[in-house]
Amino acid sequence: MGEEYAKYAELRLGRWISGRGAMRFLPTLGKKRIAVIYDGGVLTEAAREKLRQPLAAAGAEVRFIADIRHEPGFQDIRAALAALGDFQPDLFAAVGGGSVLDIAKAVWLFYENPGLPFADSFKPFQLPGGSGKSEIAAIPTTSGTGSETTCCAVFTDEETRQKRLILGYNIVPAYAILDPDFTDTLPDSIAAHTGMDALAHAIEAAVCKASSPIVVSLALGAACDLLENLPVSVNAPPGSREKRAARDLCHYAAAIAGAAINNSSAGLVHALDQPGPYFNLPHGLVCGLLLPYATAAHSPHPLYATLARRLGRQGDETDLCVQLADCLWDLNAAVGIPRSFQALGIDEAEFFRQLPNFAGAVENSMAANLAPREVTPASAAAILRAAYYGQKPTVPPTLANT
Ligand SMILES: [Fe+2]
Repeated sequence: MGEEYAKYAELRLGRWISGRGAMRFLPTLGKKRIAVIYDGGVLTEAAREKLRQPLAAAGAEVRFIADIRHEPGFQDIRAALAALGDFQPDLFAAVGGGSVLDIAKAVWLFYENPGLPFADSFKPFQLPGGSGKSEIAAIPTTSGTGSETTCCAVFTDEETRQKRLILGYNIVPAYAILDPDFTDTLPDSIAAHTGMDALAHAIEAAVCKASSPIVVSLALGAACDLLENLPVSVNAPPGSREKRAARDLCHYAAAIAGAAINNSSAGLVHALDQPGPYFNLPHGLVCGLLLPYATAAHSPHPLYATLARRLGRQGDETDLCVQLADCLWDLNAAVGIPRSFQALGIDEAEFFRQLPNFAGAVENSMAANLAPREVTPASAAAILRAAYYGQKPTVPPTLANT
């Protein structure tokens, strides 16, 4: 192993604080003006007061500037910036799922760079740095996007319903506070969707062309934790010790998977998730649905075989890849993710009318370009067609495209 990787690789990470009760870290930063972006469905009024009190006791003024409860759009960025007014925060604390964290990254970027044209923020990896005025503390309340560790913020263009990315290492949060206490009240369906998103990150980061041995190690470890713990996290009785323990591990694994994509890339699943924003489907649900197809399409792959072996499977490389794809197919059923877009009630005529657009998106997708095999609009369309009807994916018996 090794020749397929670049000569050296940098691992980019912020500071991570983890464990139940990790929120107690926040007042120790000594910040004086804290702007909080949050999900009011999770951070209720009582929870906001519980957050504010120790910060106020440490001498900080706390303002709750944006309550984000949906997939973020451009308008949310503008509204949050307007809500800042003359408050000059030295910390943006983002408490919520990936949407909240993504808004915080964008607001931080424009707060630190007031003259930055909106269109320029979408030029990949060309973002200006901060002025040093403020930092971001990302506090995820779901276990999926890994946004607390990544250089990516995802938005939906309200007019076109297309996904747009702000990408740059300057927006990686300075602090990721991983406190699984937040995940105890997470609905099982959200735990399932977000967990499958994290699993897609882990598996795709490992096999990405821009991966490295350290990324592989991180990503396969996170993938094992998710494969072993996600069904328990979703299906164990509420409040049980095994559910809490599984949610702990899924929470950390999601952050590790996020760090893995941050230091390589997501892959085919993420290049093909266009039906998500178009039909208003949760990102993680679409990731879960597509993951067995993408894994089969890129099989055989030595790292899929390694992952299957770590799960206790046996066989030659192709056998192991078949078992991994089957395992992912069964995992969806175990956590309540439907087998097909059809089963989700997506209109057949509209899906196939949009199919050329969905599949064509792979041509300009960095994730598709960095996937371990060549992806064409035709091969992408074949996967999406099969996923519409829920036709079980099969592993190619030979190394196609190589
Ligand atoms: Fe994702």
